[in-house]
Amino acid sequence: MDKVKPAPTALTIFGGTGNLTHLKLIPSLYDLDAGGYLPEKFAIISVARKKLSKQEYLDGLRPSVQKNSRSKLDDKSWVEFSKKIDFYCIDFNNEADFSGLKEKLDSLEKEWGVCYNRIFYLATAPSFFPIIFAAAKKHKLNIGCDVDNNPARIVIEKPFGSDLETAKVLNTRLDDVFAESQIYRIDHFLAKEAIQNVLAFRFANEIFEPILNNKYVDHIQITQLEDIGIETRGGYYEESGALRDMIQNHLLQILAITTMSEPKQFNAVGIRAEKVELLKKVKTIAPEDVEKFVVRGQYGPGQINGQKAVGYREEDKVSDHSFTETFVAAKFSIENDTWRGVPIYMKHGKRLQKGLTQITIVFKEAGHTLFNHLPKKPSANVLTFQIKPDEGISIRLVAKKPSLKMEIADVEMEFCYASAFRDPLPDAYERLLLDVMLGDQTLFPHVDEVIRSWEIVDNILKGWEKQEAPKFPNYRAGSWGPKEADELIEKDKRNWLSHELSVCQIHPH
Ligand code: BG6
Repeated sequence: MDKVKPAPTALTIFGGTGNLTHLKLIPSLYDLDAGGYLPEKFAIISVARKKLSKQEYLDGLRPSVQKNSRSKLDDKSWVEFSKKIDFYCIDFNNEADFSGLKEKLDSLEKEWGVCYNRIFYLATAPSFFPIIFAAAKKHKLNIGCDVDNNPARIVIEKPFGSDLETAKVLNTRLDDVFAESQIYRIDHFLAKEAIQNVLAFRFANEIFEPILNNKYVDHIQITQLEDIGIETRGGYYEESGALRDMIQNHLLQILAITTMSEPKQFNAVGIRAEKVELLKKVKTIAPEDVEKFVVRGQYGPGQINGQKAVGYREEDKVSDHSFTETFVAAKFSIENDTWRGVPIYMKHGKRLQKGLTQITIVFKEAGHTLFNHLPKKPSANVLTFQIKPDEGISIRLVAKKPSLKMEIADVEMEFCYASAFRDPLPDAYERLLLDVMLGDQTLFPHVDEVIRSWEIVDNILKGWEKQEAPKFPNYRAGSWGPKEADELIEKDKRNWLSHELSVCQIHPH
């Protein structure tokens, strides 16, 4: 990361004792601090309902930072870092608690003697959002110390709504208090190095963009497979399911990044405008066609890496009759001149055989009549961006096999982060937190992207409502998902390449 330091900042985290704060937010802030990215005047105000003293809060936090940050933590560094953290106990229904928070923030301004960035991070359950927005308005938390040059900023975790209607309502409420330029909606996939690199690959190299279109590309696969289950998130996941949890946000964002036109400028305005444009061209699947283009699944018991895994319905806080999907495969299309006729296959699921996130662009098979007489015919070229694990890019080529005969074989040309760059990759949350402090919205979806993604997903939900209850569970934990997902792509005479392609395989999976 370039070392551009933000202005003095106070980051208020609503949900200060929550999972995200322990797993990502504070460890990433610790890493930013260790890397010298935080301003000298910097404060974290962790807000939560739990009645804890500051010391109790810090004692609970330290092991999480130790476990989840990249940088080494010792007594000295923890003492220094923890001086920046304050704990504020709040009752969301008590107005006085919000005025107390406002006073705390105002007094910081007096203490520091400067106008600073006021950032509010909403890491609470979404049910608290409306209360926080209303209180922010009433207590003027939405106004920074300098309204024109340094307005307050608000960061909102996903899910942004639970369908099109609720997303619109949420946005209206938010819009009533904060301007779009103050709002940072989190989609952590956008801040992954390997996703940002898709933009660099496409637009900083001259040779690839001319062939990324329907003249040369046969189809695209966007695959996000997880071997983990829902862990301790049964309550959330029962309401959400795979479509809302992953497709509405992360996977549609990946689709947009992979297929959008070149932005006029490399900044928030330029990139977000092209993503919106592209998403508008993704064809919504009519509810009556959902059965044809979308497959859903739910895992039953099985085995992963030699370990027994329970079925979804046996997970904690999950109903034993649950119809929540833990797997989705879909076929999308883009109605524009560049991509018309190129199917986009998407697949995401939990408790699958391996954890793997890839974007695979499969090119058309060329005529190659010159080599068609050979026992092995030339295969199509394949360009793969591997996002997780072992980040890298590979290109599958056809090469002559060394021998005294003319024989050909498929070979992989690879770029792997681990060997090309020695530095460990920053966590996506480091990038996102730093960007909020710097006031850069490039990696945060605009409301128009979010709403358009919900339109696409809402039609699928409507289609499912019309269908009979699915026969769940329909795939075994540790498998590749339901057989219908294979049929979805095989009926087009294609197959899921994630089953066979591995890029930059450094660790055994
Ligand atoms: C989250 C989803 O947004 O992304 C999780 O809620 C999912 O269900 C996770 O496991 C995947 O992210 P990553 O960075 O681990 O690939």
